[in-house]
Amino acid sequence: MSRHFITIEDLAYKDLATIYAGACSPFDDETLKGQGVALIFERPSLRTRASSSSAVQELGGYVTFFSDEEIGLDTRESAHDVARTLAQMYAICALRVRDHRVFEKMRVATNDEMSLINLLSDTAHPTQAVADVLTIAEHFTRGDVDQLSGLKVSYVGDATNVARSLSVALLRLGAHVTVCAPEGYQLAHGGGEDPFAIASGSLLLSDSPEDAVRDADVVYTDAWVSMGFEAETQRRRLDLASFQVNESLMKKAKPGTVVLHCLPAHRGEEITDAVIDGESSLVWRQVFHRRSAMLGVLRWIKKEDHD
Ligand code: CP
Ligand code: NVA
Repeated sequence: MSRHFITIEDLAYKDLATIYAGACSPFDDETLKGQGVALIFERPSLRTRASSSSAVQELGGYVTFFSDEEIGLDTRESAHDVARTLAQMYAICALRVRDHRVFEKMRVATNDEMSLINLLSDTAHPTQAVADVLTIAEHFTRGDVDQLSGLKVSYVGDATNVARSLSVALLRLGAHVTVCAPEGYQLAHGGGEDPFAIASGSLLLSDSPEDAVRDADVVYTDAWVSMGFEAETQRRRLDLASFQVNESLMKKAKPGTVVLHCLPAHRGEEITDAVIDGESSLVWRQVFHRRSAMLGVLRWIKKEDHD
C-alpha cells in the first residue's frame, strides 16, 4: 500500500518526524532513480512547481507536468479515470486542486497503488507547512522541531488553506497558535486539515491583530484573495484592511519577532514592503525550505520500512 501526503493531520507523529529529518538529510540518494512523478496543477504556482520539480530531480527521478486544461479533472474526464490511468505509469502523483475531496476519489480509484501528494487544496497546504516548521525551527531551535513546544505563533489575515496546515503542524509540535481574522474569515471547523481536532498545543482565536502579535515569536500572513476568490476582491480588501501586517502593527510585537509569508505576496495588501523586506522577515528561508520539505516528503513516501 502506498503512502499519501494529503494533510498534516492524517500523519502519525513518527511519520512527521521522518519527514522533518529527511528534509534536512545531507546525504545524496537516488530514492526516485528512474521513477516518474506526475504533477497536476489546477491552479497557478511558482514555488510549489519549482520545489517539487527540483526535489524529484535531486532524488534521481523525473516529472511530467499536466496543466488544468490538459487534464480537466472531473470535467474532461473523471478524477477516477485520471487516477487509474496515471497509476499505470507513475508511482507518485502530486496535485494542486480546487477541491480537497479529489484526493479521496483518486485514492479509492487506485486502491492506494499510487502515492498522492497534496500541493495545495482549498483546505490544506501541507508541503508549505513542513517548510514553515523547518524555517521556524532553523531560526529558534537550531533546526530541532521537537523543541518548538511553547513557541507562540500568530497568524493574521484570511484563515484558509495555509493557516490550517500551519496551525495543525505547529499544534502537533506543542506550539501556542493564535489565529486572528475578522468575522467570516476565521478558521472553519471540520474538513480536511482541522486545527480544532488537534489535542496538543493550544489554539486561540482572536479578532484583534494588536493582541495577537503582542507576545508572538512568529507573525504569519497570507493573501487576502486566495486563488478562486478573485470575484470577491473588493469586499475582501475592505473586510481585511485592518488586518494588514505593517510596521505599525509590528511595533506592538516584542523585539526578535519574525515574520513569515508563504508567498506570493500582495505588497500593500496583507503585508507592506517595509515588513516583508525588513530584518524580521524570514520569507526567503521559507522559500529555500520548500525544496527541503519536498525532499523530506518524497523520501518518506519511498522509505522501505512501511509499518
Ligand atoms: N507558497 C506557494 O505555494 O507558492 P506558489 O503558489 O507559487 O506555488
Ligand atoms: N491561500 C493562498 C495560498 C497560495 C500559496 C491561495 O490559496 O491562493
